[in-house]
Amino acid sequence: MTDRRKARQRIEALRREIGQHDYCYYVLDDPQIPDGEYDRLLRELQALELEFPDLVTADSPTQRVGAAPLLEFAEVRHAVPMLSLDNAFNEAEVRAFDRRVRERLQNMAQIEYVAEPKLDGLAISLLYRQGVLVRGATRGDGTTGEEVTQNVRTLPSIPLRLLGKGYPEILEVRGEVFMPRSGFAALNRRAAQRNEKTFANPRNAAAGSLRQLDPRVTAERPLEFFCYGTGQVRDGELPDRHSAILARFRDWGLRINPEIDSVSGMDGCLEYYRRITAKRATLPYAIDGVVYKVDRLDLQQQLGFVARAPRWAIAHKFPAEEAMTVLKAVEFQVGRTGALTPVARLEPVFVGGATVSNATLHNMDEVERKDVRVGDTVIVRRAGDVIPEVAGVVLAKRPQHAARVRLPHRCPVCGSAVIRPEGEAVARCTGGLFCAAQRKELIRHFSSRRAMDIEGLGEKLVDQLVDAGLVKTPADIFTLTAARLAALEHMGEKSAQKLVMAIERARHTTFQRFLYALGIREVGEATAALLAQYFGTLEALLAADESVLQQAPDVGPVVAAAIAAFFREPHNREVISALREAGVQWPEQAPAGRTGPGALSGMTFVLTGTLTVMSRDEAKRRIQALGGKITGSVSKKTDYLVVGAEPGSKLAEAQQQGVALLDEQAFLKLLQA
Ligand code: IVH
Repeated sequence: MTDRRKARQRIEALRREIGQHDYCYYVLDDPQIPDGEYDRLLRELQALELEFPDLVTADSPTQRVGAAPLLEFAEVRHAVPMLSLDNAFNEAEVRAFDRRVRERLQNMAQIEYVAEPKLDGLAISLLYRQGVLVRGATRGDGTTGEEVTQNVRTLPSIPLRLLGKGYPEILEVRGEVFMPRSGFAALNRRAAQRNEKTFANPRNAAAGSLRQLDPRVTAERPLEFFCYGTGQVRDGELPDRHSAILARFRDWGLRINPEIDSVSGMDGCLEYYRRITAKRATLPYAIDGVVYKVDRLDLQQQLGFVARAPRWAIAHKFPAEEAMTVLKAVEFQVGRTGALTPVARLEPVFVGGATVSNATLHNMDEVERKDVRVGDTVIVRRAGDVIPEVAGVVLAKRPQHAARVRLPHRCPVCGSAVIRPEGEAVARCTGGLFCAAQRKELIRHFSSRRAMDIEGLGEKLVDQLVDAGLVKTPADIFTLTAARLAALEHMGEKSAQKLVMAIERARHTTFQRFLYALGIREVGEATAALLAQYFGTLEALLAADESVLQQAPDVGPVVAAAIAAFFREPHNREVISALREAGVQWPEQAPAGRTGPGALSGMTFVLTGTLTVMSRDEAKRRIQALGGKITGSVSKKTDYLVVGAEPGSKLAEAQQQGVALLDEQAFLKLLQA
């Protein structure tokens, strides 16, 4: 055998093999070989074709990108017009469509439909002659489109040659070219980095990428293809149902959307619509509705078409997710953690399937970034079940006296001061102990096991007490009587008795628990313990300004600012006084300030991981020297877990039990404080 003959055989074998792998990868979504192996096959083919250039054919997988840039696109007249679809925007319109179909078909009882996602890309016609892709064209106006053969050839999910046998001599396949969401995001990210124009949505990106005169540009864009229909067919037969045609297409190596399904009657269609709606956000590509098509081709023929849309199909569109309306006012809502959220009050508008009159503006950073002003015409977005948001402003419609949005100085719920730490997006109410918006959350925290440890005062009961107006601040807990509690729903006399006893016990606490229970931002258990130890008394802590606070171990500027803001708020001080008057007390301790013997007395430590500046033994000695205890495992009695490098399972245990953690640095500060 000559070299040339051998090469030809090998080239053909390689093309078949690569075609088969493309099929497994793109159509079946089931790759059979690693990418590296695939590349090796492709490179071998390229090398042979380089050696025998006359053996190169257009359908070779090496020839996806190769053509020179065009000066303009040629026109293509579609032998069979590329129709568009009628739209239905709600259930009633879909039902009316089905009724019309059945009436035209002599009142047929139930129609079998094929239901498909409606991809948000652009329609493409692919012409295969003897199984070889010879022409690609856009839809254009439906009669005449643009020839984009060189560009569609660069899409790896479009076969250059059909697999198997039995396809008609001339077969025009139609489908959608689209850009998956991830590819779209990456493309825009790259464009933004280079200060280039970004695309508004995946559809524009797909259309812009396909309509490129230079196919090398198209080849670099993450475009994909799903086929959903047929154009002209000559010298050959196709099955007599749409569903069977798609199945046949798939065997020939064309990519079919796996979400396509056969359904019965209107109920089947609507059930499909609900199923896809629920799945929509998780699909890797954008869709703007679903399409129902009469499955039987003979029925399609009988139904025919009107104007530019078939009578046998309809697009059931998702409600538009964006709409324009006027921003009437901005109000601030206070969340359960005290965060202030600007909320847009809008001229009611129908969007995403519901009438929306409020939308979130997220935080002040967003308000400033989008430059939203009262009186503006804004774009409201409501996607799926997500909270509606103001997506942007239509600057061209800004009235002359549009007013800037200002963060209030006082909490709209309780009147306490609002702070927005420098560099932070979120503004917060400082009236933690007093603010009604934060009440439930705070009281839950206050009574939790590692805070005041009021047994029996769980989440549901807190809700009940707050809703009934019996508890407004933590101090009110200590005024509860068994008689009052027993009057609550689901509360027996016995449990009321027990709870009153638990409250009584909680009056005797420790300074560190009390501090932690106040729910000051940035003050977790470890910081509370350090503060308690450092200042010794509440009076000393209340007297400390930010600079004094920062002298305490583990307290930096952020923590100091949060503590100072909390105690500066008179409302909070009132509640603290009320708590003390209600008999909440703890053994007074001398301010440690500087460490002395006994500074860690009564505290139990556990170590995990490796410390860098001292050995475990030394750590142990020093804890003990200050009166602390060190044990081997995490338990309810553990005060601190000291976490070194590469901690073990104790870390997870401690986290689960809510034990305070100290990293090495905090631990050293504690020893040296
Ligand atoms: S069938 C005669 N099926 O929607 C039927 N179209 O609004 C013609 N589209 O131009 C189209 N997904 O670009 C069909 N599964 C699907 C589709 C689909 C998206 C697009 C297509 C068409 C437009 C019509």
